[in-house]
Amino acid sequence: AKVAVLISGKGTNMAALLYASRQAGAAYEIVLVASNDPEAEGLRLAEAEGLATFALSHRGMARADHDAAMDRAVREAGAEYIALAGYMRILGTDFVSRWEGRMLNIHPSLLPKYPGLDTHARAIEAGDTHAGASVHLVTDDLDMGEVLGRAEVAILPGDTPETLAERVKLAEHQLYPRVLSEYAARPFDPDWLIARVRERAM
Ligand code: GRF
Repeated sequence: AKVAVLISGKGTNMAALLYASRQAGAAYEIVLVASNDPEAEGLRLAEAEGLATFALSHRGMARADHDAAMDRAVREAGAEYIALAGYMRILGTDFVSRWEGRMLNIHPSLLPKYPGLDTHARAIEAGDTHAGASVHLVTDDLDMGEVLGRAEVAILPGDTPETLAERVKLAEHQLYPRVLSEYAARPFDPDWLIARVRERAM
């Protein structure tokens, strides 16, 4: 399967997805790395690795116009799936419904716990024994689409949001390539599609 990866920052998950895709038997290949931040560190890595890149700052652009430009770039690259990997823009309804069932995101918490920001601080604050990461389908409900896979990470005494984030990322880098591979290789399920269309009609 052909995948576009959308990033805004470092791109360590993008790198994990890329290196896994180069292993024998991988179920997907990355055809584009796109970013809303032309300065994103991950873009430099993608370029050095010989991947096609697309950068367009969202600054001064209406959300719908920026989404449309991203959508065009992703389609022109021939992507069948989108993997959001630290993409820090909320995508509009049009974009989300166009890619429904074909767009995944990785979120640094054990969803449905802690959607949104500052997940690690919230887990530590709550006295949780474990934090983690989840890969989920993207829907209009932020961080609330169907969860496809999770990885748990123990919270250590003395963990700060930063030390915890670093360990959770190790788990993210294992989780995301596995879940994306499984998802891209799954057999087509007409029932799933019909259920989604019904849901939307309600
Ligand atoms: C990750 O923690 C991911 O869960 C979140 O954003 C971060 C991206 O990090 N959505 P990176 O750019 O992949 O290093």
